[in-house]
Amino acid sequence: MDGCFVIFVIRDGRYNNWMKNAILLLLGLFIGAVGANIVGNALRARDAYARGTMDVMQHHYGSLRENLRAKQCNATKTAFALAQLRALSNEIEPAVYPDSTPESAFREFSSRLRDALDTGIATAPADCAALAPIAEKVGKVCDECHQQYR
Ligand code: HEC
Repeated sequence: MDGCFVIFVIRDGRYNNWMKNAILLLLGLFIGAVGANIVGNALRARDAYARGTMDVMQHHYGSLRENLRAKQCNATKTAFALAQLRALSNEIEPAVYPDSTPESAFREFSSRLRDALDTGIATAPADCAALAPIAEKVGKVCDECHQQYR
């Protein structure tokens, strides 16, 4: 008797259509979820380099700010942080735009950051009084680029 019922259901056009639609809908949802996951992973992997670069810059910039707050601006530590920031500033463009040339305003912000860091490194700040204006200038470029691009 069960078999008869199944045959009846399959042969009944309306029910058959309903089932087909339900299966197609589920299949669509499944493919959509898998696709969204693939795209999401790709985007995350793509952003990882940019975020990583920024996070390490934040680490060194934060250490300068922290030393200023604590009024302990050791010249060697300052020089190290500035040098790390300067090296990372070369990574900004390839990290954020891995397969294209960034527009000119973005490149302008990047090179302004490099200029601010070069000037800072050249003055070799030995104390907090010397470091403060340099950190200020660097932080301002970070903020300005973020306002437009982050
Ligand atoms: C030329 C533009 C530019 C400059 C200059 C710049 N940034 Fe960024 N920053 C970005 C962009 C774009 C993002 C967003 C990256 C993303 O999420 O893919 C970002 C994101 C960040 C983030 C968040 C990272 C995360 O994990 O989401 C931090 C922290 C950061 N920047 C710190 C800094 C610091 C500190 C400086 C200066 C020393 C700086 N940035 C200078 C463009 C810039």
